[in-house]
Amino acid sequence: MYPSLEGKVVLITGGATGLGKAMAERFGAEKAKVVINYFNEEQEVQGIIETIEKAGGIASAIQGDVTKEEDIKGIIAHTIKTFDSLDVMINNAGIENEVPSEELTLEDWNKVISTNLTGQFLGCREAIDYMLENKIKGSIINMSSVHQEIPWPHFVHYAASKGGVKLMTETLALEFAPHGIRVNCIAPGAIDTPINAEKFSDPELKKGVLELIPMGYIGKPEEIAACAVWLASKEASYVTGLTLYADGGMTQYPGFQAGKG
Ligand code: NAI
Repeated sequence: MYPSLEGKVVLITGGATGLGKAMAERFGAEKAKVVINYFNEEQEVQGIIETIEKAGGIASAIQGDVTKEEDIKGIIAHTIKTFDSLDVMINNAGIENEVPSEELTLEDWNKVISTNLTGQFLGCREAIDYMLENKIKGSIINMSSVHQEIPWPHFVHYAASKGGVKLMTETLALEFAPHGIRVNCIAPGAIDTPINAEKFSDPELKKGVLELIPMGYIGKPEEIAACAVWLASKEASYVTGLTLYADGGMTQYPGFQAGKG
């Protein structure tokens, strides 16, 4: 547990499912004040708030589309109005879809880039603006992916968005380090969340993914939430511009295991 998180105001985009949900519940258990942005999961979000409240935490929810500038501004305004601050901004909302690149429509490209990259930029910009104005030495966490590093055929828009998140994170880390605002990202490998539900329900596809993970299992959302609370806490006070890979070794060239290569 991280006592420095008690009472901190944490905003999580795409917080109603998967990694966002796990992070919301973990920050709640750390006694942070949690704001959950959701897209269209009004029912699920109520359950998360109840879980947090049962654990003695406090939470609020706000609908919004991260691709829309006015929605991001509204989500941040709701956070400040509800809990009177913003200490930790987690840009987590993201989407993917599989399409061979020669067939990828501009519409699909724009949808993924505007959610995964532009949406994260807007979240960073608005949070940093507020933190600067209020002299808050805050923490920004962007949800990237191992595909900021590993090329991914049929997911060129996704890989491009996450590659963009990496350099955006590093650039903002450099720009705002003098103000004590830390900007980091987490790069998960394959985690058991709704984004992967279809793939993991197919035993053959799941087996193919497992072969890429040296640790031999699909990650749990709680293992990513554990990275997020550390990055947001005082324990990571000197850490900025980092990509924290949480991938069971996926980025360590698993094809070379057992002396191959
Ligand atoms: P998920 O599908 O459960 O979560 C994505 C969330 O983003 C959903 O709650 C969805 O409603 C929300 N969202 C989508 N478009 C939105 C929009 N325009 N505005 C607001 N919210 C929107 O999947 P998961 O796994 O929890 O994904 C969270 C993040 O983690 C994503 O950025 C994803 O790329 C990243 N990630 C996930 C990995 C995994 O294996 N699960 C691996 C690497 C990265």
